[in-house]
Order: sequence, then C-alpha cells, then structure tokens
Amino acid sequence: MAGKIVVLTGAGLSAESGLGTFRDEDGLWAQHRIEDVATPQGFARDPGLVHDFYNSRRQQASGAQPNAAHAALARLQQDWPADVVIVTQNVDGLHEKAGARAIHMHGRLDGALCHACGARWPAPARMAPQDPCPDCRSPATRPDVVWFGEMPYHMDEIALHLQACTLFAAIGTSGQVYPAAGFVQEAAYAGAETVELNLNATDISAAFDHHLIGPATRIVPAWVDRLLAAAG
Ligand code: APR
Repeated sequence: MAGKIVVLTGAGLSAESGLGTFRDEDGLWAQHRIEDVATPQGFARDPGLVHDFYNSRRQQASGAQPNAAHAALARLQQDWPADVVIVTQNVDGLHEKAGARAIHMHGRLDGALCHACGARWPAPARMAPQDPCPDCRSPATRPDVVWFGEMPYHMDEIALHLQACTLFAAIGTSGQVYPAAGFVQEAAYAGAETVELNLNATDISAAFDHHLIGPATRIVPAWVDRLLAAAG
C-alpha cells in the first residue's frame, strides 16, 4: 500500500534552472563568506551588504523557471495516493512556481521579517537597512531566511512527517548542513526506505538504502514515473 513520502530538496534541484548551488565549484560560498552574508552577526555588522546579497539572489530567483524535476515532484504530490510532503532548504520559490506545496525550513527570498517585532510581509524586489517595518515602524527589516546559528522553521511539523513516512528521498543536497542532513536517520529509524538522488555521492550517502546518480532533470522525472507506475 502506498504510504506517506517525504522529499527533502536542496540547491542541486534548482541548479538546472540556472540558480547556483552553495558548495559546488563556483558555488555561492566560494564567492561570499558565510559569516558576512548568512549570519545574524554579519547582518548586525553590515546590513547593507547582506541586503545586497539577498536582493541579487531574489532578482535571480524571480527570473528563474522551475525545471523538469520541480514539475515531476509537483506531479508526484498531485497523483500519489497518499501524502507527499516536500521539505525544502531552497529559498527560491520554484516548487510553488511548478504548482507544488513545500515546507520552507530555511525561509523564502520573497518574504521579509522584522528583526524587532517578528512581523512578516512580502519582500519588495529590493530591501534596504532603513526600510521601516509596516507594523512597528522599526528600521529593522531583514530577509525572511534562516541564517547559520538560527533555528530552521517548522521543525516540529517536519519531525512528525519523518516519523510517519514510509519513503524518504533527499534530492540535490550535499548533506553538510544540519538538521536537514540528519533527516535520513530520523526517517530510517521510523522504518522508512530511503533514497538519495544527486549528481554525486555525498558525505551522508552511506545512510541511504538506494542511490540514483545523475542530473535532477533526468533522474527525478524517471524516479517519479516508476513510483506512480508501481502505485497503479
Ligand atoms: N542535479 C542533482 N544534484 C545536483 C545538481 C544537479 N543538476 N547540481 C548539483 N547537485 C548536488 C551537488 O552534488 C551537491 O551535493 O546538489 C548538492 C548541492 O549542495 P549544496 O550547495 O551544499 O546545497 P544544499 O545542500 O542545498 O545546502 C544546504 O546550506 O548554505 C546553506 O542555507 C543554505 O539551504 C542551504 C544549505
């Protein structure tokens, strides 16, 4: 019987949509220092630099189109006879553009958050340090993305899904960032079958039962076709 599927996605899923990954050669972390642009301390030191970084990523993401792998996951979510929960580390919004629903554990580029009062609202195309919060008027607005040293969003909900799934898949993620890198163990502990879909082996490949190696636009649609065919 078809059971709940949890799919964890990372930057490799959007690579073929033209968005850079973080840790591949020429990835974002080869061009920017994490501590400058992706930590609360970096934001406190130079909010203008951090806004510039996310403004440019927001602009790239808003011009990007979902690829065949995003489309296949949307199809799986629609046609699979049980629940398909997509948990994404990506902040680009391409799952939604492809017609899927996703839990955004690292936030979203199209969201703004007030550092002072916690209010949330849709991010404008460009954010700047002096932008006032629409609620409390503090000039303390930031992108609604999770930085290093901060707690990812929706962790309780994700833990419940992992405990209840029968199949866990990780797609296009290097397995270097926790807590997401530990999801495969949580799912396996709950009895789920696990599969990794990636261009290469990763630091956590040994934790998975099965491996599909190749570009996401080729291996994800084929994997989804096989699952749906087996479900009848
Ligand atoms: N198809 C499939 N996998 C791919 C492709 C592709 N076309 N291109 C790259 N990959 C794989 C790489 O082999 C690598 O394992 O995607 C992975 C990308 O890894 P990272 O750049 O580390 O991205 P991710 O795992 O999503 O990073 C996690 O780190 O910096 C933070 O918050 C950021 O959410 C991000 C988190």
